[in-house]
Amino acid sequence: SRMLAAGADLDGTRVVVSAGGTREPIDPVRFIGNRSSGRQGIAIALAAADRGADVTLVAAHVEDAQLDAAHAHPAIRVETAGTAAELGERMRALAGSADVIVMAAAVADYRVADVSDHKLAKEDGAPVLSLVENDDILAGLAGARRDGQTIVGFAAEMPTDHETVLERGIRKRRRKGVDLLAVNEVGWEAGFERAENAVALIGSDDQVVAEATGSKREVADALLDAIVALRSRP
Ligand code: CTP
Ligand code: CA
Repeated sequence: SRMLAAGADLDGTRVVVSAGGTREPIDPVRFIGNRSSGRQGIAIALAAADRGADVTLVAAHVEDAQLDAAHAHPAIRVETAGTAAELGERMRALAGSADVIVMAAAVADYRVADVSDHKLAKEDGAPVLSLVENDDILAGLAGARRDGQTIVGFAAEMPTDHETVLERGIRKRRRKGVDLLAVNEVGWEAGFERAENAVALIGSDDQVVAEATGSKREVADALLDAIVALRSRP
C-alpha cells in the first residue's frame, strides 16, 4: 500500500495539523460556523502519523467519527479548539516545537463583536450583529517561522475557471507567506462533507508543484510527499 511505499519518511518529524471549522458565538446557544467536516485535516494527521511523524491534531468541531479515528492512533495527540481565538492560541503555543505546521482548519474570518450573555429572544427584536475580523493565524505563524520549519496552508476557492482559481491561490500564498498552499475548489456541491477531494499545491516560486485528486487520504499523502520533497531540498 501507499504506507509501505512511503515508508517512514516522516520519522521523528513533529507535525501540527489543524482541522475542522471554528465556531464564533452569537449568544450562549448560537454560533456562526462553516461546513468544514475536518476530514481532510484528519486524513493528513493520520497519514503523517502512519509515515512516522509525531502528530498533534488541533480539532475545531470535527465530526465525531473523524475524531475517534485520530484518538485511536498512538502517534496522534488530540487537542481541541472552539473559536478562532482559541485555535490561534493553541497553534502559537504548539508552533515552537513543530517542524511542520498544516492549517487545514476553516477559520472564521470574523467574530461577533458583542457576544450576548443571554439567549437572544424574538421579543428583543431582530439582532444586528457587528463583526470584527479575526487574526490571520496562518500569516502569523509564517511571520514567526523558525529555521527548518515548513508551513502549509489551505485555500478553499469558489470555482470560476481553473486559471482564476490558481491566480487567486498564488496571491493568497504570497499574502500568507507560507511554503506551500493547497488550493481546492469548493462550492455548494464540491469539497465539504465529501470523501473525494482535488487540490493544486502552489510552492514558494508561484508554481504548481503537484496536483492531487482522489480520496482525502490520497490527497493527504500527495501533500506529505510535497512537504517531504521540500524539506529534503538542500
Ligand atoms: N486562516 C487562518 N486564520 C484566519 C483565516 C484563515 O489561519 N483568520 C488560514 C486557513 O486555515 C487556511 C488559509 O489561512 O489555511 C487560507 O484561508 P482562506 O479562508 O482561504 O483565506 P483568507 O485569507 O481568509 O481569504 P478569503 O477567505 O477572503 O478568501
Ligand atoms: Ca477566509
